[in-house]
Amino acid sequence: MPGSRQRPYLKPSLDTVILVSLVSLFLFSAYVYPSRATLLCYIFSSGCVNGAFEQPLPVAYRELTDEETAAQVIMKEILKKPLAQSKNPKIAFMFLTPGPLPLEKLWHKFFDGHDDRFSIYVHASRVKVEHVSPHFVDRDIRSEKVAWGEISMVDAEKRLLANALLDPDNQHFVLLSESCIPLHDFEYIYNYLIFTNVSYIDCFEDPGPHGTGRYSEHMLPEIERKDFRKGSQWFSMKRQHAIIIMADSLYYTKFKRYCKRTKDGPNCYADEHYFSTLFHMIDPGGIANWSVTHVDWSEGKWHPKAYRTQDVTYELLKNITSLDEIIHVTTTVPKRAMLRPCLWNGVKRPCHLFARKFYPETLGRLLHIFSNYTVV
Ligand SMILES: *[C@@H]1O[C@H](CO)[C@@H](O)[C@H](O)[C@H]1NC(C)=O
Ligand SMILES: *[C@@H]1O[C@H](CO)[C@@H](O)[C@H](O)[C@H]1NC(C)=O
Ligand SMILES: *[C@@H]1O[C@H](CO)[C@@H](O)[C@H](O)[C@H]1NC(C)=O
Ligand SMILES: *[C@@H]1O[C@H](CO)[C@@H](O)[C@H](O)[C@H]1NC(C)=O
Repeated sequence: MPGSRQRPYLKPSLDTVILVSLVSLFLFSAYVYPSRATLLCYIFSSGCVNGAFEQPLPVAYRELTDEETAAQVIMKEILKKPLAQSKNPKIAFMFLTPGPLPLEKLWHKFFDGHDDRFSIYVHASRVKVEHVSPHFVDRDIRSEKVAWGEISMVDAEKRLLANALLDPDNQHFVLLSESCIPLHDFEYIYNYLIFTNVSYIDCFEDPGPHGTGRYSEHMLPEIERKDFRKGSQWFSMKRQHAIIIMADSLYYTKFKRYCKRTKDGPNCYADEHYFSTLFHMIDPGGIANWSVTHVDWSEGKWHPKAYRTQDVTYELLKNITSLDEIIHVTTTVPKRAMLRPCLWNGVKRPCHLFARKFYPETLGRLLHIFSNYTVV
């Protein structure tokens, strides 16, 4: 057996003596050193750095840090409390874009006639946006620069949520990009989101290099490797979950410091891990584990498929809107694909309400077929 050595012969009586003295030593030190971590450090003193255990302790042994206890109290309290019922529940549509919204006219068509049931927020990080739709005028929030894959992306998402939370009527919050389109009419999407009992936060375990491979032990003790998750950044979430994002600084700080693009280590993209990991840890049953925004990764490239005018057909959109199972593919070798049904309040329903990425040139074609493809 590897690692096992020849043991010197011991008389049973000596064995017993040693065992008894070890137990007494253990009990004595438990009395003198009441903290478990300190106790283990005392017994296995070689494994300790500054009184803390070098190896992560098994879950049962881990004591929460002060910050962690405080965070858990606040988050559990938020999850437990029913929110004040709004007489006029609205959905916040939050556009995260570098500049102009090339598909704004399509969104105008989508929103028109549904005043008072939605609010729009635009975070334009590079160029000030000239709006063509009255629904979008004066809906820009103060923005800051966003670098792809960096924490500034998460910061922009938090900025959008904070602004949208200021309106107490907003009950559900959707993050969209400049290349997103609606797949249904307003009524359908409104009912799907207002009456759902979960947030649509994409979340799965990818043991491969682009999943758990991006985890850093510096995230310990609060975030353990087994809890590290991955998912698309394009979320839609309930008000309670949006408030939790506002309340969290503990887990956010871990991602800000230790989930980064690095020169030598693995590149970690906070926007692909922070929300999935956080909600997996604190409210796993409260998230759907998939995103209502469809994107096609089937070509297996670095970027998802982007649609041109000739791709935009009634058939394509019907194909996307009819999907009622979600697929997650790991980056392990070989890859592993996991297929799950999309359940809406326990009932199997189509997964997607929005889709990306559509080039600006597709606008005319989309406007032309919008009323047709959104008919259920
Ligand atoms: C999402 O996944 C978690 C496991 O990570 C599971 O506990 C939870 O039930 C799933 N959510 C739904 C709505 O199925
Ligand atoms: C739609 O789905 C069918 C069946 O999976 C497939 O054969 C067809 O190529 C798809 N069409 C488009 C435009 O994606
Ligand atoms: C959502 O509703 C379904 C069906 O009623 C139920 O099984 C599930 O537990 C609910 N989830 C939450 C988070 O309330
Ligand atoms: C939409 O257009 C397609 C193809 O042009 C046609 O087959 C379909 O019947 C139309 N659907 C509706 C609801 O008008």
